[in-house]
Amino acid sequence: MERRDRIAKICTDLGVNARIGQKMSHFTSLKVGGEIDAIAYPETRQQAAQLVHALNEAGIRWSPLGYGTNLLVKDGEIQRVAVSLRTLEELLVFDETRVHVHAGYSLPRLVNAAADRGLAGIQGLAPIPGSVGGAIKMNAGSHGYEIADVIETVAVARAGEVVTLKRAEIAFAYRWSPFTETDLILGTTLQLKHGDVAALKEEIKQYKQHRSATQPVRDSSAGCIFKNPGQGLTTGRIIDELGLKGKAEGGATISTLHANFIVTNGAATASEVFTLIDEIRSRVATERGIDLELEVEVWE
Ligand code: EPU
Repeated sequence: MERRDRIAKICTDLGVNARIGQKMSHFTSLKVGGEIDAIAYPETRQQAAQLVHALNEAGIRWSPLGYGTNLLVKDGEIQRVAVSLRTLEELLVFDETRVHVHAGYSLPRLVNAAADRGLAGIQGLAPIPGSVGGAIKMNAGSHGYEIADVIETVAVARAGEVVTLKRAEIAFAYRWSPFTETDLILGTTLQLKHGDVAALKEEIKQYKQHRSATQPVRDSSAGCIFKNPGQGLTTGRIIDELGLKGKAEGGATISTLHANFIVTNGAATASEVFTLIDEIRSRVATERGIDLELEVEVWE
């Protein structure tokens, strides 16, 4: 059986909705990427766990797909299944200072919902446009806040089952978690603390204003392309100092607002984005002796 037929059968057998043959440029904020085998939409955590287990058993590659806001997908055929958790049934449950949320939930919506209830601890994450699962996978952070700081447990799919891990079992680091390609993050419980509703809302407003003033929020991008290199250095400043702002390759341009962003014009290809990435990397390596590491996730 053809790979796509096998995928369709696995999804049908488990009762999982799937769309076969989808252009990833429609599912990523960078708006590039070729055609993927399928996007699957499980409706429960158990169904999601069974789905990725069945795909593993069949030797079919899969990846979690959130809002596609930190994702660079190559052009051409993408041989894998994107597993979206945006349609998981259970959404958001507050329990005193705890919040239980599934991985497909929007991070900014979660932060706003917590602030509405006077719950603090994640307000710095408000401007990050992604899913909760994506934020956990890369230990998203901004303005001194990191999601790892408030995590109590994370539910993941392992061998067809839903397994709950405690924070102490998960060794998070800067923009990094130990979750691998074969772990599907399903949801989390966060431990927040009491705060003042008006003060939280004001703090969120400030972060959003700062982001709009310093990052190209109205353009198509995948956020910061590279991680900061450590030792207090900022990749955006380094690329800026090399005079690379505004450099274009086809429909892709190094942002004139923040040099660690590549923005696209809707007609760009992934290959043009990769060309800019290679150019930045080699200039930064040659002229600053720094080996930049990608911050975006790449699907090849
Ligand atoms: N800067 C420049 N030129 C530029 C960009 C920045 O000189 O083109 C300077 C700024 O003036 C500032 C310094 O570099 O003095 C730091 O810039 P910024 O405050 O924008 O922070 P960043 O380190 O570039 C990090 C995160 C962002 C997050 C912001 C805000 C990383 C790789 N990036 O950016 O996260 O939004 O802090 O807290 O850690 C992302 O994860 O996709 C992302 C954009």
